[in-house]
Amino acid sequence: MNLAGIVLAAGLGKRMNSSLPKVLHTLHGAPMLQYVVDTLQKLKPEKIIAVIGKHAGLIRASMQNPGTLSYVEQREPKGTGDALLQAVPYLKNFHGTAVVVNGDTPLITEKTIRKFLTQHRRKKHVLSLLSFIAADPGSYGRIMRDKQGNVMSIVENRDATATQSEVREVNSGVYAIESKALRLLKEIKMNKATGEYYLTDIVHIARDKGMAIDAFCIGSEDEFIGVNTRQDLDKAGSLMKFRIIGKWCDHGVTFIDAGSVFISANSLIGQGTIIYPNVHIEGATKIGRRCAIFPNVRILDSIIEDDATIKDSTLIEKSIVKKKASVGPFAHIRPGCTIGENAKIGNFVEVKNAMIGPDTKASHLSYLGDAKIGKGVNIGAGTIICNYDGFKKHITSIENNVFIGSDSQLIAPVTIGQGSIVGAGSTITKDVPANALALSRVEQTNIENWTLRRKKSRQYVVDSKQQRGSRQYVADSRQEKRKTKTRHKDKD
Ligand code: UD1
Ligand code: CA
Repeated sequence: MNLAGIVLAAGLGKRMNSSLPKVLHTLHGAPMLQYVVDTLQKLKPEKIIAVIGKHAGLIRASMQNPGTLSYVEQREPKGTGDALLQAVPYLKNFHGTAVVVNGDTPLITEKTIRKFLTQHRRKKHVLSLLSFIAADPGSYGRIMRDKQGNVMSIVENRDATATQSEVREVNSGVYAIESKALRLLKEIKMNKATGEYYLTDIVHIARDKGMAIDAFCIGSEDEFIGVNTRQDLDKAGSLMKFRIIGKWCDHGVTFIDAGSVFISANSLIGQGTIIYPNVHIEGATKIGRRCAIFPNVRILDSIIEDDATIKDSTLIEKSIVKKKASVGPFAHIRPGCTIGENAKIGNFVEVKNAMIGPDTKASHLSYLGDAKIGKGVNIGAGTIICNYDGFKKHITSIENNVFIGSDSQLIAPVTIGQGSIVGAGSTITKDVPANALALSRVEQTNIENWTLRRKKSRQYVVDSKQQRGSRQYVADSRQEKRKTKTRHKDKD
């Protein structure tokens, strides 16, 4: 079957009150238009044409484009009828069904469009509409039927009479149009009140010509929310959220408090993973099987492999956490890191642009930036890699099975050779050879009985201060008395 998908996305979206084109507003991390294009893509059409307008460059740049997608520009937003007309020259050699979808209906599903197309084809219609029954028909176009139930026209809300407004069967903005009927678009007249050409007028034009048309009421109202305002966006966002969460529940993921989490549309989560409250999984993140993601974790564009644990209040950005590794609580994995298999990054550890080898541990209070750290390394509490000299970033290399004692500073560039030990509290400025002990602390001196002597000498200081203090007080009060006497004398 020959199918072409056309998305109308060139409207100004004035009701959004935004400088961003309406179709680029996001739902769970992806632009509205992306959802519509992706849904059409699943129908395997010959081509998809998105009609875009102002900010065309920005729209193109913000989309992930399947090969079948091309763009057509509608220079002025002269209505949905005019928008579709712009795509017609690009359908010159296309013979089949054009499925037209508004770019502001992100929740529409492949399943519903498929059912709709099946009905359209079975009935051999020239033009079909996808309609739904709205609890509140609001701003949707009303489907007008005659007494026999034949579809006669669509009346837009703003043009509807009081009786017409009460009709609850409304237009979803999804149409199936046989290519030969696309010529009817030229017959649409401008709406005098708005100066726009309404695509919905194609219905009565086709009806007047005695063509086979109908409206099919399929799918649930939630699928057809047309996002015109930010309130609509919020509503659509909530519905999308539970659709995404529902999908992962079916896939075997447990959510402790689904209402409090954010899972981006293009994230993947493996079976047996458990997601605790307030977790944000953003961008194109992939989480493996049997992972535990504890409360208040945010993961962005990262890969978390099977059986990894991400403990409370941790931020992971553009990094990889390998199998069975544990990160957090309160850790920050900045972009460009790989945390090796079974490695441990613990409390208050910040890692940036670093490779952490398997079985390596940095359990507390460290900064590990621009580093290549081998396997089985132990990084003691308070270790700081001093990677920046104020001008340039330098690399630190810590080879396998090294032990870095607590409170050490490694001044990059520096290499700590395999199997070596850095004594606690050292400042390492030179390379350490393999298997060496590196120490850079000042040698310890013990002064016998020093504290006892200090106590005695302190007592002496306190005593003499107190004596001086009382003498001082006596002197002060004598001086004051003298002053008062003088003042009285002056008055006399
Ligand atoms: C439209 C329908 C209405 C239907 C509703 C479903 C018309 C006249 N009305 O109303 O019957 O119930 O959708 O959600 O079609 N667009 C362009 N170029 C333009 C104008 C709009 O490409 O010049 C695009 C918009 O970007 C949007 C879509 O067409 O994605 C629909 O336009 P919009 O203004 O939102 O139409 P509605 O008033 O919602
Ligand atoms: Ca709309």
